[in-house]
Amino acid sequence: MSEFIPILTREEIEKRVAEVAQEISNDYRDRDLILIGILKGAFIFLADLIRHLSIPVQVDFMCASSYGRSTSSSGRVKLIKDVELDLKSKHVIIVEDIVDTGVTLAYLVEHLKSSGAASVGICALIDKHERRKVEVEVDYICHAVDKGFLVGYGLDYAEFYRNLPEVYHLKL
Ligand code: PRP
Repeated sequence: MSEFIPILTREEIEKRVAEVAQEISNDYRDRDLILIGILKGAFIFLADLIRHLSIPVQVDFMCASSYGRSTSSSGRVKLIKDVELDLKSKHVIIVEDIVDTGVTLAYLVEHLKSSGAASVGICALIDKHERRKVEVEVDYICHAVDKGFLVGYGLDYAEFYRNLPEVYHLKL
């Protein structure tokens, strides 16, 4: 039997998302901001986050897939969907559900910088440390964990469980 160990309740998520949105609103109040959600996992987090912002914001999405995360390979990343908005002179924040090895984010930051963004920040629901391979500076973190396979609130196992309103550690 699979076991679902609660990590973040609905209330905890709502509180942290509102706090992080407030921080972003303060930090970017004088700048043109674009939030970029990374599909698919970030779609719920992004949807809640933007509704707590008190500054103007544009929204776009990217999709990347990384190879070899579960092996010791170097972890190449393939871009599946690029942004559609013009990023020139815009300040962007990447919105991720989870940072694990850091390989995906390191690639996305470089890609967005080379697309002309004035600055690239990172906002993650979960910062998971244990398997980090590439150092990435995460500017806004809702919750940090060392390890564990997490599902819910956008995070999946084999595409299931994204719809759970809480975050769980899934023990198979
Ligand atoms: C997850 C997550 C990040 C990436 C993080 O995406 O959304 O994009 O993995 O892993 P990393 O730090 O080891 O690179 P996934 O490929 O599982 O796709 P999904 O968002 O569609 O679930």
